Amino acid sequence: MNQPKNHILVIFGASGDLTYRKLVPAVYDLFDQNLLPENFAILGLGRTELENDAFRSKMKEGIEQFAMNKVKDEKHLQTYLEKLHYFSFDTKSPDEYTLLKGQLRELDEQYNTNSNFIFYMATPPSMYEIIPEQLAAQGLSDEKTGFKRLIVEKPFGYDLATAKKLNKELLQYFKEEQIYRIDHYLGKETVQNLLVTRFSNGIFEPLWNRNYIHHVEITGAENIGVGNRGGYYEGSGAMRDMIQNHLLLLAGLVAMEPPALIDSTNIRNEIAKVFHSLRPIDEKDVAKYTIRGQYTASKIKGEDVKGYREEQGVDPNSRTETFVAMKLFIDNWRWADVPFYIRSGKMLPTRVTEIVIHFKATPHHLFADNESICKNYNQLVIRIQPDEGVLLKFGMKVPGAGFNVQNVNMDFHYSELSDTYLPSAYERLLLDCMMGDGTLYHRGDAVEAAWKFVDPILNAWKNDNSIPVHGYPAGSWGPDVSDDLIEEDDIAWRYPCKNLSDDGNYCEL
Ligand code: BG6
Repeated sequence: MNQPKNHILVIFGASGDLTYRKLVPAVYDLFDQNLLPENFAILGLGRTELENDAFRSKMKEGIEQFAMNKVKDEKHLQTYLEKLHYFSFDTKSPDEYTLLKGQLRELDEQYNTNSNFIFYMATPPSMYEIIPEQLAAQGLSDEKTGFKRLIVEKPFGYDLATAKKLNKELLQYFKEEQIYRIDHYLGKETVQNLLVTRFSNGIFEPLWNRNYIHHVEITGAENIGVGNRGGYYEGSGAMRDMIQNHLLLLAGLVAMEPPALIDSTNIRNEIAKVFHSLRPIDEKDVAKYTIRGQYTASKIKGEDVKGYREEQGVDPNSRTETFVAMKLFIDNWRWADVPFYIRSGKMLPTRVTEIVIHFKATPHHLFADNESICKNYNQLVIRIQPDEGVLLKFGMKVPGAGFNVQNVNMDFHYSELSDTYLPSAYERLLLDCMMGDGTLYHRGDAVEAAWKFVDPILNAWKNDNSIPVHGYPAGSWGPDVSDDLIEEDDIAWRYPCKNLSDDGNYCEL
């Protein structure tokens, strides 16, 4: 495999949680597999005053807890830690960028990295307005000597207007090819596998359209609450936090046309086309197509759990949604009139992300008494997490007299590939950026198209108090009215369990 060019990874927000839990451990994983270039360093920037040694020992803890590859050799870890440097830095102060440039020049000489720099903005989004401009002012976006790449963490804007503003600002200082908008869902092995499942098998694609698919269901459920992120979540809610980015992306991958080539332009063009084909939901119809909910206090396995309004940093009268269920359509030749049902929420019974393709029943029910089973069989479940895998459900004859049909499972679990290493999402995405491959990063136009679809829903929720925020007890599958949304089409949600092959009310969660 090709190795990335020598470079320095500069992390803004290096004293924060993301750096500690995800970024530095992910880069360690790359180091441990010999995937980093020979000359490489990390420069962490943060407000907290820290010496290099203190930064390294904090990062060591992070690696020991969160790296995918367990530390086997202290000396090896030490070699990695020595590549880590820290510089106390006030992101808001333009003067400090001159010092940063000096610091980078020194490290560049010391490590011989040919002025190749990746800048990772692991900061609150308000800093996105400052960092690119100041880097450009120091000539640090100029690629005449060495590559300069900018990684932007979500949220990419707060609505369509702010997303457009952000894109415009970023493009003032960096070219689109230099900008890497990271969505960790695209880094998940199982999400990438969607492309392979669809486009490397002859048996699925002929059926993958409105002629054979009845509806598509996408679930992103979490069994945790907002924890200490209440302050952030209050201004976000499930629509901005999960649906606008992660779950619409999954819909995009399920619905896209086969790309001409597996490369960044072709794949991203196809995803953008899906987003442009989303049927707009008019503000006046929002209540018809969406359900919003908020978890309330309850008991889970005998333990009291707080409601959302009691969480730290949350307004006691908050109307922020912690659950969304919605129905959408993709208006193109392949998907016309096939409903996509999407749901996501916090404090649901289990953590599971999956896509279920529900195929149409046979045109004629030969085994008439089994009509209800016919409706439900032939589901393809693509499990993103946990118990990653793929499950096909189909009808088989019950042995014995008559022709009774029952649903059976054919399943593949990644865990069966015992010696296959599943890299973490950040590991994969950081390596791609190091290699200059933006395929698994969002492009600005697609982000704007997703906001364009979501905007009227958010506006209606904000402006129309008659649209209810339904309470649901923490630990349940959300407000019961979300069943009505799907039942009007005479179908039901799948209630997934921890194990891919199980579903229903009685299973391990
Ligand atoms: C993040 C959201 O983007 O994704 C979090 O901000 C959410 O609220 C997380 O918990 C879910 O990611 P995963 O990989 O655990 O499904």
